Amino acid sequence: MRRVFSGVQPSGNLTIGNYLGAIKQFVELQNEAEALYCVVDLHAITVPQDPAELRKRSREIVQLYLASGVDPNKATVFIQSHVKEHAELGWILQCASYMGELNRMTQFKDKSEGKQSVHVGLYTYPILMAADILLYDATHVPVGDDQKQHIELTRDIAERFNGRFGETFVIPEPQIQKFGARIMALDEPTKKMSKSAENENSRIAILEQPSVFKKKIMRAVTDTENEIRFDEENKPGISNLLTIYSLFANASVEELVARYQGQGYGNLKKDLVELMTDKLSAIQKRYEELNDPAELDKILVASAEKARTIAERTVNRVKDAMGLVRL
Ligand code: TYM
Repeated sequence: MRRVFSGVQPSGNLTIGNYLGAIKQFVELQNEAEALYCVVDLHAITVPQDPAELRKRSREIVQLYLASGVDPNKATVFIQSHVKEHAELGWILQCASYMGELNRMTQFKDKSEGKQSVHVGLYTYPILMAADILLYDATHVPVGDDQKQHIELTRDIAERFNGRFGETFVIPEPQIQKFGARIMALDEPTKKMSKSAENENSRIAILEQPSVFKKKIMRAVTDTENEIRFDEENKPGISNLLTIYSLFANASVEELVARYQGQGYGNLKKDLVELMTDKLSAIQKRYEELNDPAELDKILVASAEKARTIAERTVNRVKDAMGLVRL
């Protein structure tokens, strides 16, 4: 049986990069596999967070998962800190990982660069992520391209642990889409679209109003040619828009290139705005309908219970393998 696990940090407003790279896959995979989708609040606190904001955001992400089509009757949707085993296994795995491995993590290098002081948790962050995945014996981890290195580390830690202590962990595979693995910034299409980038025009939030994102798309950086062609190296801007379009439309990039042959960039952008208005409005409408804290709590309590049952079993297995006494 395939088991899927993935997580999103409650830091910043989720972008269409998060949606197209990860959450859209979550919805598809819940029909094919047992699925657990987590709001990773313990990861968010690796950088300073405002408590009220963090509390609000964590619930918002749950609401966004559901609004995007994650069905709590099919998938287990929960908040990471509700299952203590994440922190517990995180610590144990810190004692089974090497600093040399963490020193190679490019995301840590990016996130710590130029900062005067950095919390230890930001450095050990990938090990907590390994714990998230390994706790649930996940076979597949749907993510965007930027998480690939973390999943490779997870595999290394798990393989080494199994080699030293006997078969304990399932070795997970990253599940990364061919298109949409890396949605690029609209103002600078050689960079990843990020929910924390300074320039608001670089990204579109899932909950953004059409009047706001229309301007961003119409102004999205392209190139001086006027030929619609998918060529990430030479035409990163238009290739990014084609990728976004294809994922929202569930149409192939080839199909779109054929459809827009001989037309200018303006037409493609205008149609994309219309399509996104349709798709995002539907998510936004469901998001509003789901604004019922009591109902959300009910889902979170039941899901945490389910997640805990699996997580406890794994931690017990790990403790037995390592010689930690259980009563
Ligand atoms: P986070 O919160 O930064 O992003 C959530 C998911 O969105 C994907 N993503 C993108 N995909 C395509 N294009 C983009 N521009 C883009 N931006 C973000 C990310 O790849 C991710 O899949 N470390 C993780 C959270 C995490 C996790 C886990 C994921 C913690 N534990 C266990 C999987 C399994 C993170 O910071 O994602």
